[in-house]
Amino acid sequence: MKTYRIAVIPGDGIGKEVVPAAIDVLNKVALLDGRFQFEWTTFPWGCDYYLETGSMMPENGIEILKQYDQIFLGAVGMPELVPDHISLWGLLIKIRREMQQSINVRPAKLLQGLPSPLRQPNGFDFIVVRENSEGEYAESGGRIHSGQDEIAIQNAIFTRKGTERAMRYAFELAKARRQHVTSATKSNGITYSMPFWDEVFSEIGKEYEDVGKTSNHIDALADFLVMKPDNFDVIVASNLFGDILTDLGGAIMGSIGIAPAANINTEGVFPSMFEPVHGSAPDIAGRGIANPIGQIWTGKMMLDFLGYEEAGTHILNSIESTLTQGIKTPDLGGTATLREVTDAVLQYLESVYQ
Ligand code: NAD
Ligand code: IPM
Ligand code: MN
Repeated sequence: MKTYRIAVIPGDGIGKEVVPAAIDVLNKVALLDGRFQFEWTTFPWGCDYYLETGSMMPENGIEILKQYDQIFLGAVGMPELVPDHISLWGLLIKIRREMQQSINVRPAKLLQGLPSPLRQPNGFDFIVVRENSEGEYAESGGRIHSGQDEIAIQNAIFTRKGTERAMRYAFELAKARRQHVTSATKSNGITYSMPFWDEVFSEIGKEYEDVGKTSNHIDALADFLVMKPDNFDVIVASNLFGDILTDLGGAIMGSIGIAPAANINTEGVFPSMFEPVHGSAPDIAGRGIANPIGQIWTGKMMLDFLGYEEAGTHILNSIESTLTQGIKTPDLGGTATLREVTDAVLQYLESVYQ
């Protein structure tokens, strides 16, 4: 039996509620499957930890995490108490950066049992490949002068290596799917980075003759994802564009609360990190009504990554069965609690393996 050692960081707000629910589901699948098990080690890092110690994680936090096979994270942020630039840069973004998790894979698809808010969702099923380490999130720039003359400068950095890596990842993914990549650009308005982005898309695209290619400006793409989301297979996007498109992906599925994500270390030298698209949702935290599906589906992505795709499929089927029975949290218009949704998923899993 294979044992996977997973570092768990529930983080803040609803992260502390949805992570234990998803762990219940992953443990159940492991037990029923019988080929693997998880050994979870939980780290209490986050805003409470910051308020006690003055930092979001210990100084050797990254070294500690490197000893694990993968990382399972909930969400980070208590913006009323700790400024976001401190909490996120001290934990979530720090891990993504230092573990070189340079690709963020974020699927969005119409699920059975969950009506989309769109009038014509037409069974959409796409994956956003988000560049996850540079672009608009580069730590480059500064503030100069003061008063009315003050200037804030933020440099977006697009390296050839990082851009090619994102393109290749997207094309490889499309090869195993419906053979189409759409690039999110804005080369009509942004002078250096986006023309470069287009060039690299076209160059790497030549290596993938059989894969269809489309380039859309990000503003038009936002329109198309609402009007004809079924037109898309794989979308490759810069860090910020990918961030925005994937909240939109969550919304058209029915709720940001169900959107999953995986931060991938493509070289396989450091752990990857599995963490849903949504944040810590302080507005509903502590009430037991957060939707656990985003975190559970994120767990499915971890199983797929580890090579247990059949088990992963069972999880997604369990999610769809739960939704089809109308067992839904309030963000989906239902009245079920987090626990009721989780129990329904667990129950369906039992029935699959019988
Ligand atoms: P958010 O995603 O936390 O919440 C946005 C809205 O979606 C809220 O109304 C919330 O109640 C709802 N929502 C989100 N997840 C839900 C779930 N699982 N079930 C039901 N409803 C859900 O975004 P925000 O309010 O902009 O951010 C709150 C905090 O989280 C901030 O500190 C922000 O920086 C941080 N954040 C962290 C991450 C992360 O750790 N990966 C991602 C996004 C935001
Ligand atoms: C996400 C989040 C983060 C991001 C924030 C909290 C820094 O929105 O994971 O989508 O922008 O990457
Ligand atoms: Mn986001």
